[in-house]
Amino acid sequence: MEISSCLQGGYHKPLSRQWQNQGKSLDKSMFMYPIFITDDPQASDEITSLPNQRRWGVNRLEEFLRPLISKGLSSVILFGVPFNMNKDGRGSAADDPNTPVIQAIHTLKRLFPDLYIACDVCLCEYTDHGHCGLLREDGTLFSHESAQRIGEVALAYARAGADCVAPSDMMDGRISQIKRRLIDSGYGNRVMLMSYSAKFSTSLYGPFREAAGSAPSFGDRKCYQLPPHGRGLARRAVQRDLNEGADCVMVKPSLPYLDVISDTAQLARDYPVACYVVSGEFAMMHAGAKAGIYDLKKIAFETHESFLRAGANIFLTYFTPEFLEWL
Ligand code: PBG
Ligand code: ZN
Repeated sequence: MEISSCLQGGYHKPLSRQWQNQGKSLDKSMFMYPIFITDDPQASDEITSLPNQRRWGVNRLEEFLRPLISKGLSSVILFGVPFNMNKDGRGSAADDPNTPVIQAIHTLKRLFPDLYIACDVCLCEYTDHGHCGLLREDGTLFSHESAQRIGEVALAYARAGADCVAPSDMMDGRISQIKRRLIDSGYGNRVMLMSYSAKFSTSLYGPFREAAGSAPSFGDRKCYQLPPHGRGLARRAVQRDLNEGADCVMVKPSLPYLDVISDTAQLARDYPVACYVVSGEFAMMHAGAKAGIYDLKKIAFETHESFLRAGANIFLTYFTPEFLEWL
């Protein structure tokens, strides 16, 4: 054997294998837990499409989150799931003072002042048509008006006390809209703007749409979410959002887009990079484990380590409670 052909000596023992991580290893602070908040304050509804996840009412958040916080949960991202509120063309319920996300921010800040609270910002849970922006009569997007409306909603969450606003709508121009409003209203130095920059139109959002009741009532989201083969478009979207003032950029979904995570880490070298392990990925890993294809813990580590390796350091993942146990 050539001298340079011999690698195995370098990773024969657990410790020498651990040293192969090139300075990167998973830690609890990297995990941001997506949670669904509904408008029945007493709710604790099982979500059949998403193993072990529930829709929570604000009065149940303490019992749900206190045990996780004691295990080291440091951040959550909130999704509103209104069932009783009125849905309309502009998603008025998104920033209504009584909307579950705003109520939840108040409750969580009171109960857990140190918990980092991010809010997903989108209209699809609140519009009568289920799309993420405002529509013209012919069903096409009102681009500028959508970005303005998203900006209003983001500012309302910042005012309510969110530490981070994360627009997932994929409207052009919304990052500069939001950043401008945050700065002009005095939140520029207090609120992080995390952009869902490279968000693809994928078959993996199904369980989420069931959980959040946010499937579009007609058509699809292909005119705003990126086409899966669009690696160049993703790079441009990331670059654009950085130029518009994003403090952090995200790739979504994660597993089929490791190249995009790696591109994003290179383009956003001086920024935190997030990836969203979406509902379909989570359900897929559970289903595979249930079918005996692999062990759930092993596949969870292997996949999340692949996101870290590719360059992400924040994971929005439904596996967060498990990792708090495992790490
Ligand atoms: C839409 C939105 C989506 C998800 C969160 N917000 C995607 C979509 O419905 O198009 C998906 C998250 C997941 O699947 O876990 N704003
Ligand atoms: Zn949306």
